[in-house]
Amino acid sequence: MEGLTGKRVVVTGGTSGIGEATSRRFLDEGARVAALAVGEDEVATAAERIPGIDALLCNVADAAAVADAFARIDQLLGGVDVLVANAGISIRKPFLEIEATDWQRVLDVNLTGVFHCAQQAARRMVAAGGGVILMTASTNGLTGHEYYADYNASKAGVILLARTMARELAPAVRVNAVCPGYVLTPMQKAEYTPEMLEQVNATIPLGRHARPDEIAALYAFLASDEGAYFTGAVISIDGGETA
Ligand SMILES: NC(=O)c1ccc[n+]([C@@H]2O[C@H](COP(=O)([O-])OP(=O)(O)OC[C@H]3O[C@@H](n4cnc5c(N)ncnc54)[C@H](O)[C@@H]3O)[C@@H](O)[C@H]2O)c1
Repeated sequence: MEGLTGKRVVVTGGTSGIGEATSRRFLDEGARVAALAVGEDEVATAAERIPGIDALLCNVADAAAVADAFARIDQLLGGVDVLVANAGISIRKPFLEIEATDWQRVLDVNLTGVFHCAQQAARRMVAAGGGVILMTASTNGLTGHEYYADYNASKAGVILLARTMARELAPAVRVNAVCPGYVLTPMQKAEYTPEMLEQVNATIPLGRHARPDEIAALYAFLASDEGAYFTGAVISIDGGETA
């Protein structure tokens, strides 16, 4: 992709699943990558597993921790050109069983966490005259999916956060929301039996889950000069699921 060499990229959740594939792709494109995540093992082993990455432990739901992490990133990278706000969690529960603490946790990480990181990144980008912010929403933010009411609401919120920021921050900063469908990552694998995987695949027109690197390729395109006319876009990458 054009224009990614030397770019300073922050990927939240950048040491697992979609985020890890995204970190790897940006590093392959010649960018510099700092990842924020909460998994102690994934962060501790990141430098060895993903050569070139700077991985920091940071809970994106904690505003003060995010401010500290971005200050550290200023020291490590000297600024931020691209943010992929990707960290997220899900809890599978019927609506009637969701507890207030479940609801709060999912909204805190998936929506408020994106807000904290996007605001830190956007302040730097506006001051520097440009940047790109990409957010991992989900097809769950577009249509109702059973047993994920809190998650779905958080992802719908991410979509309108992206669209609103895109209008306020144009033309200097481009902001887009990406809506992956089913992607085979640790998050998904933890919830599936082999039978469940086959059942879900049968509902997807392309007949399979996405690979994390297929989502990463979209992030690289959107952040690159080749994606320069994308802002305020909500892009499904779902094998035809929502078609
Ligand atoms: N896997 C899918 O099918 C799928 C589909 C659509 C959207 N998504 C979204 O993609 C994103 C990545 O999911 P994944 O499947 O790669 O999951 P994953 O579990 O492999 O990775 C999640 C990452 O987020 C980090 N994280 C979790 N809570 C955090 C917090 N409070 N602060 C900082 N980091 C935190 C983890 O440390 C990890 O690095 C999520 O936002 C998820 O909702 C996933």
